[in-house]
Amino acid sequence: MRPRPKRLERLPEQYFGALLARVTAAAALDGEPIVDLGRGNPETGPPQYVVDALAEAANRPTAHGYAPFRGLPELRAAIAERYRTVYGVELDPDNEVAVVPGTKTAIVELSLALAERGSTVVLPDPWYPDYPSGPALAGAELATVPLDPAAHWQPDFARAPRDGVAALYLNYPSNPCAAVVRDGTFERAIDYAHETDAAVVHDFAYADLLFDGRGPQSFLATPGAKDVGVEMFSMSKSYGMAGWRLGFVLGNAEIAERINLLNDHCRVGVFRPIQEAAIAALTGPQESVAERATTYERRRDRVLDVVDAVSEGTFYVWFRLPEELTAERLLTEHRLALAPGEGFGPSGAGWARISLAVSDETLEVGLERLRSALAD
Ligand SMILES: Cc1ncc(COP(=O)(O)O)c(C=O)c1O
Repeated sequence: MRPRPKRLERLPEQYFGALLARVTAAAALDGEPIVDLGRGNPETGPPQYVVDALAEAANRPTAHGYAPFRGLPELRAAIAERYRTVYGVELDPDNEVAVVPGTKTAIVELSLALAERGSTVVLPDPWYPDYPSGPALAGAELATVPLDPAAHWQPDFARAPRDGVAALYLNYPSNPCAAVVRDGTFERAIDYAHETDAAVVHDFAYADLLFDGRGPQSFLATPGAKDVGVEMFSMSKSYGMAGWRLGFVLGNAEIAERINLLNDHCRVGVFRPIQEAAIAALTGPQESVAERATTYERRRDRVLDVVDAVSEGTFYVWFRLPEELTAERLLTEHRLALAPGEGFGPSGAGWARISLAVSDETLEVGLERLRSALAD
């Protein structure tokens, strides 16, 4: 066989795969069981009526053929209705909504659909570790826009590149910074897009996981957003459906069409019962969405008793480790796995991310270990 094509060689290490391998290796060594607060994998699934809808649909003999390539029209209408009623955004379900098998798929595909080889994709720093993969496959250059901790982790566009920029990725509520968007940030992103001809890609994976009475803020609710960009909405976090692999790319019709075009070739639809259950999730009782946020807020408060940090939403706390303490030492000496900041972009070194998406019991044991490590 010939060597791997360069586009595969360009892919960075898969951060979460490598993290999981390190945690598994540490767990195999003698000692207390590892407490894993490293992964953002929702610990609670969707409400029972969603699982029932899946089972019911899967029991229908007609469920098993190819689904429409571009998603069930009722699913596209259901997400458009959520955008209208919850986020205050009008969307045309036929032209401004693309159904994707998880937004991680779209994170990569949007770079393929927007960036030419040699053009630049601008990522926030800190970033979500899966963001560099798409630019790598596209053969695009990576650049960053710094998120300033002193400015509530908002992007400093004065320090973003101006030349050859194909796309700007943003993510609020932010993973890993756990910050929400501030007034003016989305407007400035739109100005930047006009100035540079870049498209804006907003990752809204934690749309509804907000603390302290905050309301959701969609990028698409900003005037002019649809002219320059799209937003990704995921069923994983709001509804606890991470393993189901379902999400959406919404907004700019040309970009939605490019994603659909790629997926006509590469994905060929999503299993119909998953789509039907997602319709049930989006149109059924919504109490579970707020309940999730309340649970994470309660756990956030427990963590903030131990570390000095701010967390306004998501299910993370992002904090600076003391000089002498590393995530590696926490793992090997204290049997506590956190997500090391190094994978979250150039400014992540010396930081770590704690996940709240674990049981209360696991979190308490983890916090006990962290408290003792910080006291050492
Ligand atoms: C910021 C961010 N975007 C996207 C995703 C991926 O979501 P999905 O399950 O829809 O692929 C995650 C998952 O952890 C995330 O943290």
